[in-house]
Amino acid sequence: MPRYTCIYGSGVLQLLLCLLFTSDAFAEWNTSDAQEVRRTILSSSHPYVRPSQRTTVNVSLSLLTINELDVKTQRFSTTGWLTIKWVDDRLRWSKAKYPDVAHVYCPSSEIWTPQLFIVNSQQEVSILEDEHVLLSVRRDGLVEWKLPRIFSTFCVVDVTYYPFDTQKCVIEVSSWVYTIQELVLLPAKSSANYEDIRPHGEWSLISSSVFTEELHESREDGVVETYSQLDIFVEMERKSSYYVTSVLLPIVLTSFLSLFVFLLPVESGEKVGFILTVLLALEVLLTLVSDQVPSTSINTSILSVHLAFMICFGVVCCLLTVMVLIIYERDPAIPISTQWKWLYRKVLVPSSCWSLCSSRANKRKINVKSNRHVGTLSDGDTDSIEGKGVSNDISWRDIGAVLDHFFLVSMGTLITVFTTGSLIALTTGTSDFQGHVHH
Ligand SMILES: *[C@@H]1O[C@H](CO)[C@@H](O)[C@H](O)[C@H]1NC(C)=O
Ligand SMILES: *[C@@H]1O[C@H](CO)[C@@H](O)[C@H](O)[C@H]1NC(C)=O
Repeated sequence: MPRYTCIYGSGVLQLLLCLLFTSDAFAEWNTSDAQEVRRTILSSSHPYVRPSQRTTVNVSLSLLTINELDVKTQRFSTTGWLTIKWVDDRLRWSKAKYPDVAHVYCPSSEIWTPQLFIVNSQQEVSILEDEHVLLSVRRDGLVEWKLPRIFSTFCVVDVTYYPFDTQKCVIEVSSWVYTIQELVLLPAKSSANYEDIRPHGEWSLISSSVFTEELHESREDGVVETYSQLDIFVEMERKSSYYVTSVLLPIVLTSFLSLFVFLLPVESGEKVGFILTVLLALEVLLTLVSDQVPSTSINTSILSVHLAFMICFGVVCCLLTVMVLIIYERDPAIPISTQWKWLYRKVLVPSSCWSLCSSRANKRKINVKSNRHVGTLSDGDTDSIEGKGVSNDISWRDIGAVLDHFFLVSMGTLITVFTTGSLIALTTGTSDFQGHVHH
């Protein structure tokens, strides 16, 4: 503590600081001179007459915060300021005559200003202006206007890869009055300045770029008027960890839950109730996702397509369960047709075994298992699947039990393949999207 006080108190440092501050920016201020400068330059210019035949206006955007990106209404809101610079030769004064005056300030109503507006504004379309913001005029005629604003612009949101999506929003600046022959907009920098941006909970700004463009407008008499336009792009990435735990994980788990209906024993009497509950849960999740997705059909979210498929699979599982129940509960007196026997022997048992048994287990094992599962109705001919004896020994309950296994395996494979495919598409597709937008 005492050491610091000593340094600040030392006269040498004060002298150094004094020397530093004698540069142009900290030149001595002479109020009467400044008033004189203002009187002179303002008397020689008119606010409605532009400074040159073709005025070049440099525009740059500095961002302070991303307020929100409302996916549903496609509104992108940011806070920042536009730095607008141009040279007005009428506003010069000589350094020799007024050495103490480097800048003067004036309101926008007193000098010429480019009539800029935000083309894709969602809030209001009006000329960018703020009568309270002063413009600074340098002695070489350079006018600088820092215009703070909340920019609320329309942003075409692509939710295809939600929640791993990257959004590119644009703020389009153009001149309302002056055509490109009279006013040219140039980017002062190749990107928006986002050094000072505050972190946002949902989006992280990853890059920005600025392009010049021309805005064409045909009049009734066939003449096409061209306006200079500046497109300031802001690219943001969604922070997806929240969505992985609150959206993705429940969807994947619930989809697999529907398979367990085929493991539930018929005797429990819960099969249909269980699958309907799972279906209902999937519907609720679909509603949650739809809430995040714009109501347009420009692009479809892979996630909602995935969910729709999972609901279809759920419905199929429900129908299959009902079918299994019907077969299982059939009157044992009804003779089993040869088609069923063929299906049982050639398709159901081999395929269930192929997927369920380990490589060492033999077919005998599954037969025993299914017999035990259904009770004692068909007793012990364990060679039935292979042998000719099968036609005499299978019952409707056997068929029902093996159908359950068969559906478990086939629906399980379908759901696994679909889920893996969707997850791969979601996580790897984002890079394609970025490349596509960069064009
Ligand atoms: C400001 O400039 C005027 C004339 O240019 C001079 O008369 C006056 O003394 C100056 N005032 C100061 C505080 O330097
Ligand atoms: C505007 O930007 C261009 C380059 O983009 C530069 O050459 C020019 O000096 C700038 N003009 C002003 C007034 O800053």
